[in-house]
Amino acid sequence: MTEGPLRIVCLPGDGVGPEVMTAATRVLESLPLEVELEEHLFGGAAIHATGSPLPDETLEACRGADAVLLGAVGLPEFDGAPVRPEQGLIGLRGALDVYANLRPTTGDGIDLLIVRELVGGLYFGASGRRPDGSAYDTCEYSPAQIERTARRGFELARSRRGRLTSVDKANVLETSRLWREVVTGLADEYPDVELTHLLVDTAGLQLVQNPGRFDTIVTENTFGDILSDVAAGTSGGLGLAASASLGDRRPGIFEPVHGTAPDIAGLGVANPAAMLRSVALLLRHTVAEEALAAALERAVDDALQSSPTPDLGGSATTAELTDAVLGALDRAAA
Ligand code: NAD
Ligand code: IPM
Ligand code: MN
Repeated sequence: MTEGPLRIVCLPGDGVGPEVMTAATRVLESLPLEVELEEHLFGGAAIHATGSPLPDETLEACRGADAVLLGAVGLPEFDGAPVRPEQGLIGLRGALDVYANLRPTTGDGIDLLIVRELVGGLYFGASGRRPDGSAYDTCEYSPAQIERTARRGFELARSRRGRLTSVDKANVLETSRLWREVVTGLADEYPDVELTHLLVDTAGLQLVQNPGRFDTIVTENTFGDILSDVAAGTSGGLGLAASASLGDRRPGIFEPVHGTAPDIAGLGVANPAAMLRSVALLLRHTVAEEALAAALERAVDDALQSSPTPDLGGSATTAELTDAVLGALDRAAA
């Protein structure tokens, strides 16, 4: 519960981002909850308007909000450019210190949650080009950075089926050996959680061959990026995959796992389910509106059955699937 309206900053971004954001705002405005939505420039759209992918005014609005709802950023025209939309996304995650990125996947016999470290590792280390023409990216982790993410993993595993798989590359990387050390050192504090370690290449294989064996996975930033797309591929693809990025305080960032889908942008056929499930995560993790979050998730599941979009083999448009979600919510409330 929250005092006053739930203040959400909406960052539609680029490509299909604004298309799925429209679905989200339609649903949010239909809920029995007082919400205040405020839209701001972000990503490629913000570069065009201001020269920066994360204008100061947008960052300030995000800092003052209860939650940030984000579409997606990235446009082919910025590939290789010095100023890129994705820098805004990484900058926003860092500025809000949302270190734990929750990426659930559910499907036939599958119910797994990836907890991805989000503000460290290769994405935040020193990088550049050298005079000899070579390039470098640096992966660094401190024990404290690993510990806070690992604790989220243990706590979430405890609230689920009690099994935590920590994924690393400890046979090669020093950061992974530290990762494993820190995670192992916490295990005594969570005796009810069964901890196992898995190398990332094997984790990829097992996610493809037997995703049903996983409960909660905790891993560093880059591995989590890759494995969460793999996990999404095991049940319905990126159109369904939601995420919540949480720090120690509000606001969290709620966004689909998918990107701007340039191949279908502008056609009005993007699947809004990933975004609507991210709205459900927002309700659950920002204001503990569990009943409302669960009702929205059920409505999305219903609508996916009755009005699937082309990525699922159907022919519904983004707006039609959203209409079906609103209809299912209405029926549930009646
Ligand atoms: P993508 O996730 O945009 O698309 C991959 C495939 O999934 C495409 O075939 C696309 O059509 C499909 N897809 C994605 N979302 C869908 C949806 N809602 N409904 C139906 N189909 C969907 O990945 P990409 O093509 O590698 O990247 C495109 C751009 O998006 C790049 O600029 C990348 O940097 C950016 N990106 C942004 C985010 C983000 O903002 N969080 C995440 C990933 C990629
Ligand atoms: C994601 C995306 C981002 C990431 C990019 C666009 C910076 O792929 O959210 O999964 O790598 O974190
Ligand atoms: Mn990704």
